[in-house]
Amino acid sequence: MPLTLDSFDSARQMAVAFPEAASLASPSEVWHEASVCALIHYITDTHHAYLHAELPHLSQSLIQLARGQGEQNGLLCQLNRTFHLLKDELEEHLRQEEEAVFPTIIRFASCRSPAPSLIAMNITVVHELETDHRHLIALLRELRQVTKHYTPEPDSCRQYVQILRRLQCLEADLLEHLHLENDILIPRVVQKALN
Ligand SMILES: [Fe+2]
Ligand SMILES: [Fe+2]
Repeated sequence: MPLTLDSFDSARQMAVAFPEAASLASPSEVWHEASVCALIHYITDTHHAYLHAELPHLSQSLIQLARGQGEQNGLLCQLNRTFHLLKDELEEHLRQEEEAVFPTIIRFASCRSPAPSLIAMNITVVHELETDHRHLIALLRELRQVTKHYTPEPDSCRQYVQILRRLQCLEADLLEHLHLENDILIPRVVQKALN
């Protein structure tokens, strides 16, 4: 597939997958004006920091609840499984971004005449980012399905209701996070690579 800005236009796909996130499909003007470096620092300091704190917390709460309710609660087992798939994938994704992808993009963004090898490396990393993001969106969709759109049953316990609320906040934060990377950061890298 030829490398074009359109091939990275995931906002419409995201709006179709998550109609409730349609308002996020219009990239914020403020981040269009900011430097790539400032955007990356913002993503790391807010969205990555939130996930580093929230994923272990949610994991612990879900494991505790599953232990309390026993293996007979099929829905909880399924939720536990889907959440931990998402957690593992996200933690590996954050590690890759922080240790390899973001430093590579920052090096490229601050380079006036990047070497062809650095351009090629950046094209590869943004393609890999897009692939990872598609997997994460598929897992978010699965999580939404398993939790019936984060809707508790009338007899759901307080802990389960709290977990659903936190998962819904995680989804909203992750959609905004992916929106910044897919719709602002990646097109900026592609634009520079094409110039
Ligand atoms: Fe990220
Ligand atoms: Fe990402």
